[in-house]
Amino acid sequence: MLNQDDTILKFDIPEIIYGRGSLSKIGQCASRLGGEKVLVVTDPGIIKAGWIDLCLKYLLKERLRYVVYDNVVTNPRDFQVDQGVSLYLKKNCDVIIAVGGGSSIDTAKGIAILATNHGSVHEYAGCNLVHHPIPPLICVPTTSGTGADVSQFAIFLDIREKMKLCVLSRAIMPDISLIDPELLTTLSSELIAATGMDAFTHAIEAYVSSLSWPMTDPHAIHAIKLVAQHLVNATRTKDMTALEGMAIASLEAGMAFSNAILGAVHALSHPLGGLYDLHHGLVNSVILPAVLNQNLNHAMPKYARIAQAMGLELRGMRFEEAALHAPEKVKKLIKDLELPTRLSKLGADAEDIPVLAKMAQKDICMQTNPCSYSINEIETMYKEVW
Ligand SMILES: [Fe+2]
Repeated sequence: MLNQDDTILKFDIPEIIYGRGSLSKIGQCASRLGGEKVLVVTDPGIIKAGWIDLCLKYLLKERLRYVVYDNVVTNPRDFQVDQGVSLYLKKNCDVIIAVGGGSSIDTAKGIAILATNHGSVHEYAGCNLVHHPIPPLICVPTTSGTGADVSQFAIFLDIREKMKLCVLSRAIMPDISLIDPELLTTLSSELIAATGMDAFTHAIEAYVSSLSWPMTDPHAIHAIKLVAQHLVNATRTKDMTALEGMAIASLEAGMAFSNAILGAVHALSHPLGGLYDLHHGLVNSVILPAVLNQNLNHAMPKYARIAQAMGLELRGMRFEEAALHAPEKVKKLIKDLELPTRLSKLGADAEDIPVLAKMAQKDICMQTNPCSYSINEIETMYKEVW
C-alpha cells in the first residue's frame, strides 16, 4: 500500500541537466558516477536517428568503454530485461545509460534492479519491493512525455499473462536525468502528440492526486500550462521553442507524478496496454475525458484551476462552473492533435471490458485517484470511450 500519512511527505528527484547540446556532457556524467564500463540501453529507432553514435563518441572522449543493448521495443517485455542484465553482468559493466523513450528507460531500470537485487522483474511489481541500491543510472529522454527519467516508476509487460507489471520504488530513482531538447527533433509528429498527452495526463493526475502537496502542485500546473501552450505547435511544426516547452512540461509532470503518484486514467490504461500492446500515451489520451467527467465532482476547485491553466479566464466565475470547462478544453486539445477518441479504433474488443475493469480497480494508480470507483463505474468509463 502507498503511504498516505499526510504528515510525512517527500519530494525525490534526480540531478537534472538540461539544455540544447547537453548530450555532450554524458561522458562526464558517467565518469562522475564512478563508471568505467557503460551499458547503453536503447532501441533501433534511436540508433537510426544517429543519437547513439553521438553518445558513444562522448563516452570515448572520457575514455569510457561501453556495450550497447538495443533490443528495446514499445511496452518493454520482461524477458528483454533478462537479456539486458545478462549482458550487463557478462561484460562487467558498472553504470547504465538509457537513451530513448519510456520503454528504454524502464528497461534500463529493470536491468538496474536485477543487477543488484537478482531474480526477475515480476518479484518487484508493487510498492517499495526493491531493497538493494541499484547501479548508477543516467537517463537521456528522447520523447517529451513519459517522465520516466525523473520517476520512481517502471512498467514492464508480462508477456505470458499479457499484463503490465508496475514497479514503484524509491530505489529506482535515476541518478541523473540529462535532457537535451535537440533529441526531440527526430521524433515523429504522431509520437510527439501521443507522448505529450502522456505528460499532460501525468500533470493532471498528479495535481488531483490524494498525495499531491505544495511541492508537486506548482510543477503539475505549470506542466499543464506548457502542454496547452506548446503541444499542438510542437506536433505540427516541430518548432524548437515548442519542443523545449514540451521537454520542460514532461520534466515537471514527471517530477509531480513521481511524488504525488497518478490516478484512474493510468489505472484504466495499464490493463489495455498490457492486453493489446497499445501505445501508452495514446490510450491515456482516449481515456482521459471519461475519467475527467467522473472525477470532476471530487476535486472541483482543482479542475477549475486546470481549466484556467489551459487558458480559461476565471474572473467572476464560480469554481463549480469553471471546472466544467476542463473536460471541454481537454477534448478540444485532443481534437486539435487529431488523435483517436475511441478505444475500438485502437483495436480493443468490448467483450474484454469486465476483465479490464477488475484489473483497473486493483491497479496501484487507483489508490491515489481523488475518489474510488466500483467495477460498474469503471466499466461505464470504459464504455463511454469505447
Ligand atoms: Fe504515463
